[in-house]
Amino acid sequence: MWQKVEAAPADSILGLTEAFKSDSRAEKVNLGVGVYKDEQGSTPILDCVKAAEKILLEKEATKSYLPIPGDPVYAAEVQKLLFGGDSEVITSKRAATAHAPGGTGALRVGGDLLKKFNPNAKVWISNPTWANHKGVFVTAGFELAEYGYYNPETKSLDFDAMLSSLANVPAGDIVLLHACCHNPSGVDLDAEQWKKVAALGKEKGWIPFLDFAYQGFGESVESDRCGVVEFAATGIDFFVASSFSKNFGLYNERTGALTIVSPSADDSAVAMSHLKTTIRVIYSNPPAHGGLVVATILSNEELHQQWLAELAVMRDRIKAMRVALVDGLASRGVEGDFSYITAQRGMFSFSGLSDAIVGWLRDNKAIYVVGGGRINLAGLTKSNIDYVCDAIAEALKV
Ligand code: LMR
Repeated sequence: MWQKVEAAPADSILGLTEAFKSDSRAEKVNLGVGVYKDEQGSTPILDCVKAAEKILLEKEATKSYLPIPGDPVYAAEVQKLLFGGDSEVITSKRAATAHAPGGTGALRVGGDLLKKFNPNAKVWISNPTWANHKGVFVTAGFELAEYGYYNPETKSLDFDAMLSSLANVPAGDIVLLHACCHNPSGVDLDAEQWKKVAALGKEKGWIPFLDFAYQGFGESVESDRCGVVEFAATGIDFFVASSFSKNFGLYNERTGALTIVSPSADDSAVAMSHLKTTIRVIYSNPPAHGGLVVATILSNEELHQQWLAELAVMRDRIKAMRVALVDGLASRGVEGDFSYITAQRGMFSFSGLSDAIVGWLRDNKAIYVVGGGRINLAGLTKSNIDYVCDAIAEALKV
């Protein structure tokens, strides 16, 4: 069957992890996949997660199927986190949430659902965007278009370009936005800019689809949700794909959610009915464990506070690594202003390193960076930062 078939290319992000694992060089450093590492270079299980798992081990009484959209307690906790506990969206019952297998699963469920009712829509993605966005929405059957976002000259947001592209998006098309910690650039909108984009979405009638994979990695759980809150205030239909891979460190539990916000509770009930039929034919109902862990933590005041503290430790360590990288390059006399690295938010920096340099770093120094120059700052530690700065300084002189 496969003799005449060409092998598929490796995934541009997860394929790097495979290559990294099989690299035998002791000095190797993985700055590719967006996974948090602590100062020891490992990806820990959060203490609040361990505590919740202990509770579950004692209390969990069945492994029977969950409902198609997952556990209702999980959905309620997801909504509080997305909109704030006292949000009008929640009291008006305007949101329908389903537990999806990770942020990617949520995006795909949303894509399949939108395709049913909006078959001729295009999906507008930021330039640049997470490589897998393209695959997910093309596979769901959509044609893609790009809106302006990042200015490589200034290494910052090109808000004028963004607004002028979005002003030309036809009603009914879908606009995929990164709610915070833009992947790959680390360049975000501020609160005022979100207000303008939300107002534009309402005026033009496109359907916003917010990918919210890094809540709490920017500034805080509250301020990172300001884009979601602005869209909620418009009263229009929109989608949110959220993930607990990063902020709860639940990567392999595939714990995410798709939330559809509608203008009314009646609309929301219809949305939920179609969410269920969409999920039923893909994976029937979600895996339980990660959602139970998240619901246990968020509904328990002590564990909730512990989670926020552990999240702050991850966020602060990444910020410290941004400063260390900028200082490390400056102290090696590398020319150029790298201050944009500290202005970016979340796990990533669009470092400005060319693909030639990315290749040189991998071949000569066993340092793995995603093509396009995206660096995962969370892969830097006090033990490897000097090695990485030396290597980048050398690469830029080659
Ligand atoms: C990333 O961008 O590195 C992460 O979101 C992991 C992934 O699935 O690509």
